[in-house]
Amino acid sequence: MEDKISVLLSEEQVDERIAQLGQEISKDYEGKEIHLICILKGGVFFACELAKRISVPVSLDFMSVSSYGNSKESSGIVKIVKDLDEGLENKHVLIVEDIIDSGKTLNHLIPMLYARKPKDIKLCSLLSKPDRREVEVKIDYLGFEIPDAFVVGYGLDYAQKYRNLPYIGVIES
Ligand code: IMP
Ligand code: MG
Repeated sequence: MEDKISVLLSEEQVDERIAQLGQEISKDYEGKEIHLICILKGGVFFACELAKRISVPVSLDFMSVSSYGNSKESSGIVKIVKDLDEGLENKHVLIVEDIIDSGKTLNHLIPMLYARKPKDIKLCSLLSKPDRREVEVKIDYLGFEIPDAFVVGYGLDYAQKYRNLPYIGVIES
């Protein structure tokens, strides 16, 4: 059966916000190069759109992580499923993620990446659900704060489906 999905953030709203974030990031990193790390798979649509809006030089790398334990709740222990191709030494790293929920994934991942000696690491997330936070995560660039609802689209999935929706939607139960 098809799920019914209602629009939470339209394609226009998302695109407009990404353009604003791109401008803000370009200004903050003026004279520098950004090493953009996309967290697969959810971050990929956002990372591509964002990278196109950044005017300073950008290099791209990809990482896939999963947390141990059951799949619905983040355990906080991150397993690297696909590691980065390149080292981070002396780079200005910008992590691009789809959503910060409990915060456990990034709370664990950021110190792991700092051990690789980048110049600095900043975090950019398209969405954040502050009501769900269990551990603190500093989000340097945020698209939208959203309420505690399960969302899909723009990279976010429900059982691997709906990543390709051009908007952020909520599955109606
Ligand atoms: P956390 O911040 O460690 O709890 O985990 C964040 C990850 O959980 C995200 O990268 C998503 O993959 C997934 N996630 C959290 N909330 C949602 C949602 O509403 N829709 C789809 N995936 C979600
Ligand atoms: Mg994710």
